[in-house]
Amino acid sequence: MSVKNSFMMLVVGGLLASCNGGPNKPNIELINDMMKGPDYKAQQYDEHQPHGRSNRVPPEGTVPQGFEPYAYPNDPVAAGKNLKNPLAGKNDPETLARGKKYYSIACQVCHGEKLDGKGTVTSKYPLPIPSLLSDTVRNHPDGRVFHIITKGQGLMGSYSRQITNLDDRWAVVNYIRSIQRQ
Ligand code: HEC
Repeated sequence: MSVKNSFMMLVVGGLLASCNGGPNKPNIELINDMMKGPDYKAQQYDEHQPHGRSNRVPPEGTVPQGFEPYAYPNDPVAAGKNLKNPLAGKNDPETLARGKKYYSIACQVCHGEKLDGKGTVTSKYPLPIPSLLSDTVRNHPDGRVFHIITKGQGLMGSYSRQITNLDDRWAVVNYIRSIQRQ
C-alpha cells in the first residue's frame, strides 16, 4: 500500500468513525435515505391511499379485538327485558364499593351524592336532573339502567367511555339499588 493510499484509508476511517456521535449522543447520519421512512400525521392527506386519508380505514365487516357489539343500541325497553345483570344479588362490600367508585366519578356531579338529582352542576343545567330514587328508576329493570349508562337518555349522554368495563357499569346499577333500598 502506497503512502497516499494509507493516508486515504485513514481519512475514510476517520470519517466513518465520526458517524458515531459518541456515548449518549445520536449518531451523525451522512446518508440517511434508508433510515427514516416518510411519516404522515394523523388526519393528513395521503395521496397514496385510495380514500386520500393517512389514517387507515378498517376493512369492511371487521371489529377491533375484544369489541363486543351492543345488541340494543336504540331500544331501552328491549335492553331492560333481555339484559341480565351478571352481578344480580351481589351486594358484598367490594361490589358496592366498586359501584360507588364509578358512580362518584361519572354520575355524582349531576345526580348527586344522595342520588336525589342535586349534584354540584344541577343549578347550571338547563333542565332539572332526575332523582334516581324515583319510582320510575326503581321500576326500571337493571338492564334498562345499564342501557342508560351505556347509551344515555334524552339530554344525558352516554357514559360508556367513562365506564368502559361492563361489570363496572353493572356494579353502578347494584350501587344505585343499594341506596334505593335504604
Ligand atoms: C351531565 C349530567 C349527568 C350525568 C353526569 C349523568 N346523568 Fe343521568 N341523567 C341526566 C339527565 C339530564 C337525565 C334526564 C335525561 C332525559 O330523560 O332527557 C338523566 C337521566 C338518567 C336516568 C333516567 C332517569 C329517569 O327518571 O328517566 C338514569 C337511570 C340515569 N340518568 C343514571 C345515570 C348514571 C348511572 C350516571 C353515571 C354513569 C349518570 N346518569 C350520569 C344527567 C346526567
